[in-house]
Amino acid sequence: MESLDMKKIIVTGGAGFIGSALIRYLIRETDCTVCNLDKLTYAGNRESLKEVADSPRYSFAHLDICDREGVTRLFAEFQPDTIMHLAAESHVDRSIDAPLEFVRTNVLGTANLLQCALEYWRGLPEERQTAFRFQHISTDEVYGSLGEDGFFAETTPYDPKSPYSASKASSDHMVRAWGHTFGMPVLISNCSNNYGPYHFPEKLIPLVILNALDGKPLPVYGRGANVRDWLYVEDHAKALWLINQRGVPGETYNIGGHNERTNLEVVETICRILDELRPKTAGRYADQITFVADRPGHDLRYAIDATKLTRDLGWHAEENFDTGIRKTIQWYLDNAWWWEPIRAQKYAGERLGKQK
Ligand SMILES: NC(=O)c1ccc[n+]([C@@H]2O[C@H](COP(=O)([O-])OP(=O)(O)OC[C@H]3O[C@@H](n4cnc5c(N)ncnc54)[C@H](O)[C@@H]3O)[C@@H](O)[C@H]2O)c1
Repeated sequence: MESLDMKKIIVTGGAGFIGSALIRYLIRETDCTVCNLDKLTYAGNRESLKEVADSPRYSFAHLDICDREGVTRLFAEFQPDTIMHLAAESHVDRSIDAPLEFVRTNVLGTANLLQCALEYWRGLPEERQTAFRFQHISTDEVYGSLGEDGFFAETTPYDPKSPYSASKASSDHMVRAWGHTFGMPVLISNCSNNYGPYHFPEKLIPLVILNALDGKPLPVYGRGANVRDWLYVEDHAKALWLINQRGVPGETYNIGGHNERTNLEVVETICRILDELRPKTAGRYADQITFVADRPGHDLRYAIDATKLTRDLGWHAEENFDTGIRKTIQWYLDNAWWWEPIRAQKYAGERLGKQK
């Protein structure tokens, strides 16, 4: 989609999985200038931004969203028209091992960012105040867990069940409160599970692809019956920009592609495609599937009703799970330069979040 104007955007968490997809999209498809505010935790990787690193419209600020002075200074210098806030601790299993890290970044960090944005926004001339957007990127996990039927709508009551989803729910509430109380234009979206290129290999899909290639066990939690609604990350990036451009301040938009799969179906699909694209010398990849103890408090099913986003803003996903997963697997086969150092130095695939 063409940009409606030449905005200056701060993307927080732009070195992460979704943030880097968003920045690559913004630099490629719009005339916007983008500053990436990122602390570079274990999940941040500047290699994911190689494609845009030399663009004169891209810059990087190594900052923690909890750093009041640093964020205030950056806002004053860069003069953003919009903040797209993705920085977070994002892995449910790690939130079981270290919940307070999630409270620090997702709750306190978001509050700090909101307050810095508010002070900056109050100093803008009226026209720029009206055009300003604080856009908060959140998850469908805030709605809790579904049974066999039904979908999460924007009106579904919050019922988060993991330290991760509770911290994201809390940040959503604060964004709404800052919007309602102070009149700052805020937007919120809650998205289903993403997958695609540059996904840190602690998450199910890249973990299974890389463990399969390494001849390691492919861990499936419980019986693999938990259902997730998968969305290709580039479809999410497009939705975020559309919401930024056309969304109504104060509103919430659910994002999802109606691609529900059980975890076992996801793992079996990856095995089948790998059998075709990179056959093993003996046996099949599915032979490596290993059922392991379930995640404590594992939500059974997430599924998104994205009718509002489609009806009001005209969004639709371009990839379905079958096309997106094939692209993703091919990307991992072609881009070992990106994931090999991560597997060697940062995370080799060990089990997280089992509880002590
Ligand atoms: N991955 C999904 O399936 C999914 C789905 C819906 C919503 N979300 C939300 O989208 C956002 C991005 O998710 P992701 O999967 O790209 O996460 P990610 O873990 O891949 O990336 C997070 C990024 O935030 C940065 N970061 C962490 N703490 C920070 C801090 N204190 N200050 C500054 N930067 C910090 C990290 O360095 C990293 O670059 C998150 O807010 C997440 O809750 C994710």
